[in-house]
Amino acid sequence: MSERKPIRKAVFPVAGLGTRFLPATKAIPKEMLPIIDRPLIQYAVDEAREAGIEQIIFITGRGKTALIDHFDMAFELETTMRERAKDLAALEPTRIQPGNLATVRQQVPLGLGHAIWCARGIVGDEPFAILLPDELMIGAPGCMKQMVEAYHEVGGNLISVLEVPHEEVSSYGVITPGARNGALTEVLGLVEKPRIEDAPSNLIVSGRYILQPEVMRTLEGQEKGAGGEIQLTDAMARMIGAQPFHAVTFAGKRYDCGSKIGFIEATLAIALERDDLRGEVRAMATRLLAS
Ligand code: UTP
Repeated sequence: MSERKPIRKAVFPVAGLGTRFLPATKAIPKEMLPIIDRPLIQYAVDEAREAGIEQIIFITGRGKTALIDHFDMAFELETTMRERAKDLAALEPTRIQPGNLATVRQQVPLGLGHAIWCARGIVGDEPFAILLPDELMIGAPGCMKQMVEAYHEVGGNLISVLEVPHEEVSSYGVITPGARNGALTEVLGLVEKPRIEDAPSNLIVSGRYILQPEVMRTLEGQEKGAGGEIQLTDAMARMIGAQPFHAVTFAGKRYDCGSKIGFIEATLAIALERDDLRGEVRAMATRLLAS
C-alpha cells in the first residue's frame, strides 16, 4: 500500500469561451458537444472516476448550466421513461452522488491558471487532478488511471505528455525532458507556446495533471503569460526543483476536440471502435470516400 495521500478530487476547467466552435457554442458549452451519444464532459468524468476520483469540481462561467444539469437528476424525463417502460441504463453514467459535484464560477475567463486557482478553497490541502475535457484521451486503462498509478510510484507533480511533430509545438506547453524510466520522464523545465526554434523538445503537455496544493499559492498573484492569459504552465514551471516533477507518456490515443479536425477524427475513430456502429460506419465512410 502506498502512503501517499490519495487523489480524491479532480478539477474540470469548463469556463472557456469555445470560440473555435461558434456558433454551435453560443448557447451550449463546448464541453456538452457530443462525440456520438456522450458529451465531452462525460468522457472526462468517466475517466476520472475510473481512476478513483470521488469529488468532481467544475470551474464554470455564465451559460454553462447545462453541464450541471447533465449530472443532475432529470425528474420529468426519468418519470416519463419509467411510465413508458423504457430502459434508463443510458442515464447511469450521469449519476453523481449528492455532495460529490461542486461548482465554482470563474467570472472572467482569464486563463487556465486562473481557472484552477478559483478551485483553491475546495481543493484545500491535498494533491488533486485536473482534466481538460476538450482533450479526449482514450485508453485502457484510461489516462488518469495511468497517472494515478505513476503518482503512487513517484509522488509529487505529474503531467501527461505526448510527442507531436516539431513544427506543431508552438500551440502547446512543452517540457524540457530529463532522465527517462519507462513511461516516466523527469521534467526539468516547462514553457507555454514557445517559438519552434526555442522549443526544448517536441513533448507537449496534454490536458491531464496531478498537482500538489502548493500550486495554488504559486498561482496567487501570478502575472499574465502567453496569449495574455494566466498560464498554469508558468506556475508549474516555478515549482520544478522544489518538488518532484514527472511526465507520463500516455499509452493510448488523444484527440484534440477543441479543434474541428480533432473533433471529427474523434467521432470517426470512436464510431469505428464501437461494436454497435463499426460495420455501418465503415460501409458509410467507404461509400463517401468513393463518391
Ligand atoms: P481553450 O483555450 O482550449 O478553450 O482552454 P476555450 O477558450 O474554451 O476555446 P477557444 O480557443 O475559444 O475555442 C482549455 C480548457 O481550459 C478551460 C476551457 O474551458 C477548456 O476546457 N478554460 C480556459 C477555462 O476554464 N478558463 C479560462 O479562462 C480558459
